[in-house]
Amino acid sequence: MNNARTIVELFANAPLSWSCDAVAMGIYADGSPQKALEGISAGWFAEVKQALSAGWMQGKEGEFLILPIVRESFGPARLLLIGLGKRDGITPRTLEDIGARLVKTSQAHGISRLGCLIPMNNHNGISKGRCIQALAEGAWRGSYRFDRFKSKNGENEQPPEKSIILGLAVKEKQKNRMSDKLERLRHICDGQFLAQDLGNMPGNWLTPERLAGEARKMAENLPIQVTVWNEKELKKNRMHGILAVGQGSAHPPRLIIMEYRQGEDRPVLAVVGKAVTFDSGGISLKPGAKMEEMKFDMAGGAAVLGFIHAIASMNLPVNVVGLIPAAENLPSGHAQRPGDVIETASGQWVEVINTDAEGRLILADALHHAQSFEPNMVIDLATLTGACVIALGHEASGLMGFDTQFLRKLERAGSQVGEKMWRLPLFPGYQEQLKSTVADMKNVGGRDAGAITGGCFLSRFIDKKIPWAHIDIAGTAWDMGSKRPSQPKGATGVGVRFLCRFAQKELV
Ligand code: BES
Ligand code: MN
Ligand code: ZN
Repeated sequence: MNNARTIVELFANAPLSWSCDAVAMGIYADGSPQKALEGISAGWFAEVKQALSAGWMQGKEGEFLILPIVRESFGPARLLLIGLGKRDGITPRTLEDIGARLVKTSQAHGISRLGCLIPMNNHNGISKGRCIQALAEGAWRGSYRFDRFKSKNGENEQPPEKSIILGLAVKEKQKNRMSDKLERLRHICDGQFLAQDLGNMPGNWLTPERLAGEARKMAENLPIQVTVWNEKELKKNRMHGILAVGQGSAHPPRLIIMEYRQGEDRPVLAVVGKAVTFDSGGISLKPGAKMEEMKFDMAGGAAVLGFIHAIASMNLPVNVVGLIPAAENLPSGHAQRPGDVIETASGQWVEVINTDAEGRLILADALHHAQSFEPNMVIDLATLTGACVIALGHEASGLMGFDTQFLRKLERAGSQVGEKMWRLPLFPGYQEQLKSTVADMKNVGGRDAGAITGGCFLSRFIDKKIPWAHIDIAGTAWDMGSKRPSQPKGATGVGVRFLCRFAQKELV
């Protein structure tokens, strides 16, 4: 569906011999051009210096300047000077932004082949390989578009038709290793784009059954086994949590199970992702403002799909089972009501105080079922609570669980790929808030510590002996006011990158 319209090529020869219609060069905020300009003719260099001393550009992050040049052997081209910001402020994150800006600027100026001379030699201890990866990742992610519903003759800004080819210079002897690395990175980005595409699809286009269809389609060309349970099978397996949430909608619920087992006797990871294809709140209807954003309420499920797509494409020798409970939460004559009591697949009874706390009901059944795959660890991702957005905003996801060592590994994986997580405690005292007078528990614990009581509820459906982590991605799954060039407005595909990192580090 998607595509990021950037192709990254590595070239080992002097940049001048790589045919392109522009060459990008970095300028630091102190106004000095980067060193490492092998292959740049003295003539160009003088022109750059002149432009800088004339004050045409300072080198601030985000700044750019285009100069026409004449190349001896390839004729006229352009020099794209791009601001790198402060020399000692350069991080993989800033390089990612620069990568994204390079393709955006190229698109805007009709550049289709851009050779990049941004220095990659050990910025602040970041290795050259890491620099190249960050630039490539930014270039890919920055050219992601969701234009499924933009017609050719529409009034809105049209998506660019052509791809940008970005050439990155590497040493000859590093070329093969680097291109393998970039290939894996591209698979991870593609998984993220899949998660973004699914997240951006509106509720009328992405129903639980259509989401199941996406999982089946994905398994056609990859060694993934997909099982989808419809209402009959959900009933047979007593999954009244999933059924109750879906019963108000004309689009019935599903449980999507994806198995990828290429890791022989290595540990088994179960990942569970909440997929409420649209969350109106049900009879406990949400207010109208921004309700349209609840099309993103399946982001956890989308991350699971994207993650499995990525590891299968990379052919990673790991064992992963993905479970995606999918339902649409709508009010109707068939909908569940506040006060209803349901029996979950685990046998525990839940009093549904608020039909808008639906995520935990579908996850209860999926988490319970995950255990039948005898996983060594379980991770769930869910846009579970508005309270988590209040607590952590959009910078970090909420991380909960009991196994400190396991949580630490997840935190590390997250921080390495820029998907930050922050721990919230599941102290036993919080469990008290879920006491019900008529059933084993209520589905809400009041306003106080809302993200935590959500985690407490889920903790009751998973064996305490299994390392388990609950990740509340309510604040990180979409971004409607992004200032980062690598993140277009809409779904972020959060989860895919840190899960891939975790799998590569801890499961192989
Ligand atoms: N999908 C929402 C959580 C949400 C809210 C995600 C805002 C992203 C932004 C979830 O199903 C929900 O409605 N949670 C309720 C729980 C409450 C009733 C205990 C909430 O947060 O208000
Ligand atoms: Mn809800
Ligand atoms: Zn929800």
